[in-house]
Amino acid sequence: MNLVIMGPPGAGKGTQADFIKAAYKIPHISTGDMFREAVKNATELGLEAKGYMEAGKLVPDEVTIGIIKERLGQDDCQEGFMLDGFPRTTPQAEALDQVLAGMGRKIEVVLNIFVPREVLLERILNRVTCNNCKTIYNLRFLDDHETCAKCGGELGYRSDDRGEIAKTRLEVYLEQTMPLLQYYQERQVLNSVDGNREAPEVFEEIREILEKI
Ligand code: AP5
Ligand code: MG
Ligand code: ZN
Repeated sequence: MNLVIMGPPGAGKGTQADFIKAAYKIPHISTGDMFREAVKNATELGLEAKGYMEAGKLVPDEVTIGIIKERLGQDDCQEGFMLDGFPRTTPQAEALDQVLAGMGRKIEVVLNIFVPREVLLERILNRVTCNNCKTIYNLRFLDDHETCAKCGGELGYRSDDRGEIAKTRLEVYLEQTMPLLQYYQERQVLNSVDGNREAPEVFEEIREILEKI
């Protein structure tokens, strides 16, 4: 299954990716996670991406397309993959189609998770992630705000989850990523998912969509 998960910042792409990975055993490829890891390790890629991320802007297409090309060529992607946060611009979508065509493959399903703007901002400001196992939490549902319930790791905020940066990320989504919905609509692979419900309920709708392909 070759899958793309789309949706604005805070829609629940990463959260649903964890459910999908557990149920379908396909690799979860998140460009945001890849960039954050690179920033943490201060690699050349990380140094390049950092400034854009901290401003809430997109990392240049050629950089992002390059890392995705390399990742999709790896062995674990041969049976399928799930892209989260890529593509985010029309050139990225076109490059993805081209790379996949070269492998005799294509995108089979795109999930678009939609959530009202005020809910998105509230979720972003309440997000913490385990520094160790990367589990994503919503502080509203946590008693212990410091320790991961799964592994005991330390919970931390993302540096781009602050008010003004979060608003910029939403604007960037509206301007640069929303037009892609039309791109996938035309290719008849777009499926909308109501993300403004409890996470397991959202996953049930996703499961119904995925069972049909
Ligand atoms: P990226 O990491 O992709 O961030 P994003 O798109 O802004 O999305 P988020 O990760 O913020 O949200 P999400 O939808 O995954 O929500 P989550 O599940 O965590 O990108 C970061 C940056 O990297 C970009 O700004 C850019 O600079 C760069 N970048 C990445 N990809 C790029 C690309 N292709 N091109 C160029 N640059 C790129 O959930 C959010 C919160 O809500 C959590 O607290 C969660 O617990 C909670 N939650 C989730 N679902 C529910 C629910 N159903 N009910 C209640 N709470 C929920
Ligand atoms: Mg995410
Ligand atoms: Zn953990």
